[in-house]
Amino acid sequence: MSVKPEMLFLKQEDVVKAGLLDMKMVLEVTEKTFKMIGEGQVINPPKTMLGMPDLENWTSFCMSMPSYIGGDIDIAGFKWASEAVYNMGKPGMPYGIDVVMLTDPKTVYPKAIMDGTLITAMRTSAAAGVAAKYLARKDSKKACLVGAGVIGRTMVMAMMEAVPSLEEIHLIDLDLSKAEGIAKEYEGKYNVIPGTSIEAAAKDADIIVTMTTSRKPIVKTEWVKSNATVIQMSVNEIEEGILMNANKKVVDNWVQLSHGTGTLINKVATEGKLTEDMVASLPQLAAGQKPGRESDDELCVCCTYGIGSVDVAVAHKIYMNALEKGIGQKLMLWDNPLWV
Ligand SMILES: NC(=O)c1ccc[n+]([C@@H]2O[C@H](COP(=O)([O-])OP(=O)(O)OC[C@H]3O[C@@H](n4cnc5c(N)ncnc54)[C@H](O)[C@@H]3O)[C@@H](O)[C@H]2O)c1
Repeated sequence: MSVKPEMLFLKQEDVVKAGLLDMKMVLEVTEKTFKMIGEGQVINPPKTMLGMPDLENWTSFCMSMPSYIGGDIDIAGFKWASEAVYNMGKPGMPYGIDVVMLTDPKTVYPKAIMDGTLITAMRTSAAAGVAAKYLARKDSKKACLVGAGVIGRTMVMAMMEAVPSLEEIHLIDLDLSKAEGIAKEYEGKYNVIPGTSIEAAAKDADIIVTMTTSRKPIVKTEWVKSNATVIQMSVNEIEEGILMNANKKVVDNWVQLSHGTGTLINKVATEGKLTEDMVASLPQLAAGQKPGRESDDELCVCCTYGIGSVDVAVAHKIYMNALEKGIGQKLMLWDNPLWV
């Protein structure tokens, strides 16, 4: 019997209606995906980056992030993840714009195309949340979040959900009004204190998370407490000393980061200072194959680059919710295929 090439189109509003802003759900899906990667149930080739005008001097890029997730999820797909310097600070224009496509692994028929921009924001912060769950001290009270952009907003949600002991979140940005705006959004829910000095907020912080557009280190080694947890979401925001001093060095994906042009991990790997056996991965932590934090005295550092299968897993969850709730627009790839 022939299968109809019907796919569901979900615009950003639909993705939100289908429950994306539930951080608890996104944390669960993210952690489960990491565990499945650790257990070998996911195929996740390294992402391919198309930097324009070139890889070193990009002013915009698009990345292709394909994956297959097996087990009880059984879905293929990819995220087309893009960022543009041109968009920075332009009203109504996000710096990052993403699309996710889902494919039936058996027939390879497309199942869905959806906005992935907010999926990225939610799953990126959820990845940091999972890192914090395994690496942060259980008595962590103060967090310093650097970067009050799209990811900064969801990072507040992820940290508060993943580290319930947190009492205050210092949200730092070059542009104070952005940090103030997010603090206001969370007023009455979370204690978010806006600021502009990374040094002042980082010095006695238990957790430091960076998610800025800076391409050079902005967190200095001497500002970091010896038993803090530092999570870098962009590629080169923390000084090398912070990473090299860490008792536990964690990455989301060693291959991607160690080959990623401009990443701190690529730099220390190329210089021979860091090898794969010196790091743990978030999938290994989630699958119980390597330990997270083992004592309150450790400095734990996690560097991430983003893993496409997490986007696909979250998008699949949203797709299933949307089907159940009748959200979205159905599109046909053809009425009758011309040549078969
Ligand atoms: N690891 C991942 O999986 C992943 C996924 C998506 C995005 N990211 C990265 O996260 C970063 C943020 O993305 P976004 O979409 O939130 O961008 P955004 O433009 O919405 O926000 C970035 C914020 O950083 C601030 N900033 C820039 N330089 C700063 C500095 N030196 N000190 C303090 N604040 C500074 C900007 O003012 C801005 O508010 C980007 O670098 C992006 O590549 C990582």
